Amino acid sequence: MNSKMITTFKHTDLPVHMTFSEHDWQLLAQHWYPIALARDISEQPSAAMLLDMPLVIYKMGDELIVAKDVCPHRGVPLSLGRHDGQGIVCRYHGLRFGHEGKCNRIPAHPQHIISDRFHLKTYATTEKYGLIWCCLAARPDDKPVIPDMPYWDDSDYQQLVCPFVDLNCFAGRQLEGFIDVAHFAWVHPDTFGDPDDVEVPDYITTETSYGFDADYISSVGRYPIGTEQRGQDNFNWLRHFEISLPFTATLTIHFPNQSKQVIMNAASPVSARQTRLFAPICRNYDKDLPVEDAYAFNLQIFEEDRLIVETQKPEYLPLDLSMEAHFPADRSSSMYRRLLRKMGFNPIFAA
Ligand code: FES
Ligand SMILES: [Fe+2]
Repeated sequence: MNSKMITTFKHTDLPVHMTFSEHDWQLLAQHWYPIALARDISEQPSAAMLLDMPLVIYKMGDELIVAKDVCPHRGVPLSLGRHDGQGIVCRYHGLRFGHEGKCNRIPAHPQHIISDRFHLKTYATTEKYGLIWCCLAARPDDKPVIPDMPYWDDSDYQQLVCPFVDLNCFAGRQLEGFIDVAHFAWVHPDTFGDPDDVEVPDYITTETSYGFDADYISSVGRYPIGTEQRGQDNFNWLRHFEISLPFTATLTIHFPNQSKQVIMNAASPVSARQTRLFAPICRNYDKDLPVEDAYAFNLQIFEEDRLIVETQKPEYLPLDLSMEAHFPADRSSSMYRRLLRKMGFNPIFAA
C-alpha cells in the first residue's frame, strides 16, 4: 500500500506532537473535516485542533480564516489574542494578522516592510451545514469536498445543528459505532432501542464513489421510548446510511407517515485518540417542537455510546479483518474496514 504514500507536507510543516503514523496522517490530511460550529465563530480568535494541528479561526468581515495557531514570531497561540477591528493581535509582542492571515502590523518596527515570513500559515476552509470545515492539504482555491447531506436544502425540512461532543476515542471507532445496527437493543434501551428486539435482519451494502451505502430495514423505531404510537404498529423502519470515507456518515431514517430525519455523524479526528463529533440534523416533522429537545435526545444517544467507544480495545481500528471476529450483522463495519484499507491506511489504523 506504500504506493499510495502521499507526502504533501514537509517534516517542518507536520504537527509537533503527532499521535498518528506519518503515513496515515499524510493521507488523512487530504480530506475535509468540521472543526467548529459556525454559530461559535466571530471576529474574535477561537482555537480548534485537527489531526494534532492547533488551529485558530477568526473572521475579517465575511472572510473566514483558519490558520496554524502559532505566531510566526515566537510561537505563542494567536487564539490567546484579541481582534482589534483590523486583525487578531498576538498576546506577546502585538503582531497583528488580518485578511488571508497576513501580518499587517509589527508594533516594535512600524516603519519596516513586513516580510512574507510573518504571515500565518493558512488552510482551506468553508462553511456548510452550520459547521466550519477545513482541509489541511487543500489549496485555497480547491473546491471543497464535503459529504452530501440529503434534504438539508429542502425547504420542507428544519435544520438543527447539535452542540458538538468530545470523545476520548479514535474517529474510526466512533464512526463504526454509528453505522453498527446490532447494538441498538444493548446500548440504547433508554432512548430508542428495544431490549427484546435483538435479532438483526440481513441487509445490503453498495459501494459508491464516496464510500458505500447501506439499507437496513427492521422493526427498531426511532421515536423516543414512551412516545405515543404514531403509525408505528407493524411498521418497518428503513435506515439508509451513506458512508463518506473516512469519518462521515449520514443516516436517513424513514418514519411512519412519510416523516424523515437525517443525521450527519461527522467525526472530526482531533488526534488519534480524540474525536470531536459534529451532528447536523434535518427533519420534516415535529418542526414546532423546541430544538433543545431534539438536541437533548440526540446527545443522550451519543452519550450512551460513549462508554463503548471510549473503552474498546485496541483503541485503533484493525483494518486487517482477521484481527477481530465478525458476524453477518457486521456487513457495514467489515466493508468500512475493507475500503479504508483500499484507500491505503495502515492495517493498524491510527496506532
Ligand atoms: S510571539 Fe507573537 S508577536 Fe511575538
Ligand atoms: Fe449507538
